[in-house]
Amino acid sequence: MAGMIQMESRPGILDLSWGHPRPGLLPVGEWGKASAAAAREFGWRQLTYGQATGPTPLLDWLTAHLCDTEGGGTAPEQLFVTGGASHGLALVASLLAGPGDVILVDSPSYHLAFRILADTGATVVRAPADADGVDPAALAEQLAALRAGGRRVPLLYLVPTFANPTGRSLPAERRRDLVALARRTGLTLLEDDTYRELCYEGVAPPSLWRLSGGDRVVRLGTFAKTVAPGLRLGWINADPALITRLATLGYVHSGGGVNHSVATTMYCFAASGAYRRHVAAVRAEYRAQRDALVSAVRAYLPVEAPAGGWFLWVALPPGVGATGLLARAERNGTSFVPGPRFYVDGAGGDDRIRLSFSHLAPADLAGAAARLGSALTGLG
Ligand SMILES: Cc1ncc(COP(=O)(O)O)c(C=O)c1O
Repeated sequence: MAGMIQMESRPGILDLSWGHPRPGLLPVGEWGKASAAAAREFGWRQLTYGQATGPTPLLDWLTAHLCDTEGGGTAPEQLFVTGGASHGLALVASLLAGPGDVILVDSPSYHLAFRILADTGATVVRAPADADGVDPAALAEQLAALRAGGRRVPLLYLVPTFANPTGRSLPAERRRDLVALARRTGLTLLEDDTYRELCYEGVAPPSLWRLSGGDRVVRLGTFAKTVAPGLRLGWINADPALITRLATLGYVHSGGGVNHSVATTMYCFAASGAYRRHVAAVRAEYRAQRDALVSAVRAYLPVEAPAGGWFLWVALPPGVGATGLLARAERNGTSFVPGPRFYVDGAGGDDRIRLSFSHLAPADLAGAAARLGSALTGLG
């Protein structure tokens, strides 16, 4: 079926580069039932222009769900339904930043966010970070220096929980320090919370959104990883003033709430209990996939097992560069994303590779890891 999807598998490659769900885990049957339920429950209202911030049934369910996961912290007037986290990122960045501004980004961080942020015309600059993530004290100095030089610095983008690419979460003290710094300096923390629900050990750390009480933090959520990326459905958590700005944008005025029909179907999917069952099931599958890849890679390299998310951030043996290894791995029938892609200035990370365990079943993950191992061994 040509011409249908963004990326097709390459013949002969067991690919560890894709941060995509395993196709067999997409809820095709349950989504079909939810679509039929939405047609029955909402009739023509599902197929006309939707309320600006999203349909009330979904906003109410999402409010209760987010409050459940974090013990409170969200009200319906703090939500705006989007076409996924990327869309939320583009909307917030374009409202809060523009040409001449500086947008700071964690480092390493989600590489595909860099272009979305650069689309605003702002300059995207690496924030100081170490193995634990953004360093608040060094960030305060960087911010002061940039502002003293006359630059406007409205935003810091980060993925503090089960990060892409590292799988790590920002320590509690740094979360508190960042929230305090944001309050003190007027910097907005743009928290990408895409992986919160894909937690495999204990509970996820509290979000910056929750810790800040919504002050100076905007949070992005998505159903892309928990349910399906093709839905193009997510949300923004922000203070009501920013939500009003989003809801009164010209394109919302003209076209109504974003992705209204899918949003109403998502409500039915959630209200029937399918969402809860599905997330529990995929969490167990991704945990098993994580374990399969971790144990296969540990046969030849030490690697940390992340507590959540989709990625292993693997340190290469001394003297092996990620970029050089990629060509050799591909000749050997596997692939990954080299570390430098996750640095906005491309400087750094050649001693690391990102392996995704989301897209392949355990046996294929083990096969891919074996091919990577022999590409490494061949390097001597
Ligand atoms: C950190 C992060 N944010 C956002 C996205 C994209 O989310 P969406 O499909 O909802 O636009 C991804 C997907 O890989 C991601 O890893």
